[in-house]
Amino acid sequence: MLRQTDTLLGARPPGCAYFEAFRALRTNITAAQEKERFSSLLITGARPGDGKTTVAVNLGIVAALARKKVALVDADLRHPAIGEMLELPPGPGLVDVCNGEASLDDALVRMDIETLCVLPTGATWPMAAELLGSTEMTDALGDMQERFDLVILDSPPVGAVADAGVLSRLVERTLLVVRAGSRSPEPEQRALQSLEKAGAHILGIVVNDILPRDSMTYQQYYSYR
Ligand SMILES: Nc1ncnc2c1ncn2[C@@H]1O[C@H](COP(=O)(O)OP(=O)(O)OP(=O)(O)O)[C@@H](O)[C@H]1O
Ligand SMILES: [Mg+2]
Repeated sequence: MLRQTDTLLGARPPGCAYFEAFRALRTNITAAQEKERFSSLLITGARPGDGKTTVAVNLGIVAALARKKVALVDADLRHPAIGEMLELPPGPGLVDVCNGEASLDDALVRMDIETLCVLPTGATWPMAAELLGSTEMTDALGDMQERFDLVILDSPPVGAVADAGVLSRLVERTLLVVRAGSRSPEPEQRALQSLEKAGAHILGIVVNDILPRDSMTYQQYYSYR
């Protein structure tokens, strides 16, 4: 069921540096979970296209490969991408669950990796921020937090719309994705300030698309701090 695009872990040999970097990210998140006891994690970033969805999906895959029960939620209602990336059939999703049109069990899609479930966006909805801030959304997230070891939410960039700020208040931890080589750090600084103002608990920053120092042969690398 995993589409073999080259940024998805399904298309990479398990021994490559790209895979290894996601294992390192998984290890750091597991260590943080053991210390701080959380299960919901928002993946966001300051700019469009920095790799939020790529990080969310690959983290979901690598965590499930370690037998963690993972729910991967597409909470980017404006530009849903996970359904297409994973070639999910059309069906109900987060919007339908929040609107009472579907149950969580009906909307969660089981993937080939046994412990990985995906909640796509489902129906389109014009008022994303309002839906994400609804009590139904809080209830659905609470339900998933009880049932899964890790609930990963993909979101739009912080600056563009209110959604990421709204989501950051609901989840227990937030990760910021930054693409290496971004020219000025100002958008990231503004994003961090606005997330902190919203009450987000920032777990760390993932730098996407960097070359490891000891090798020029790898095309992609992720680090976590
Ligand atoms: N490490 C990487 N190496 C090469 N290509 C990458 C890498 N990370 C992401 N990409 C590519 O960059 C593009 C944007 O990635 P992605 O959709 O994950 O970003 P995003 O932050 O979710 O974007 P949006 O803000 O539109 O939601 C995609 O084509 C993806 O395949
Ligand atoms: Mg995205």
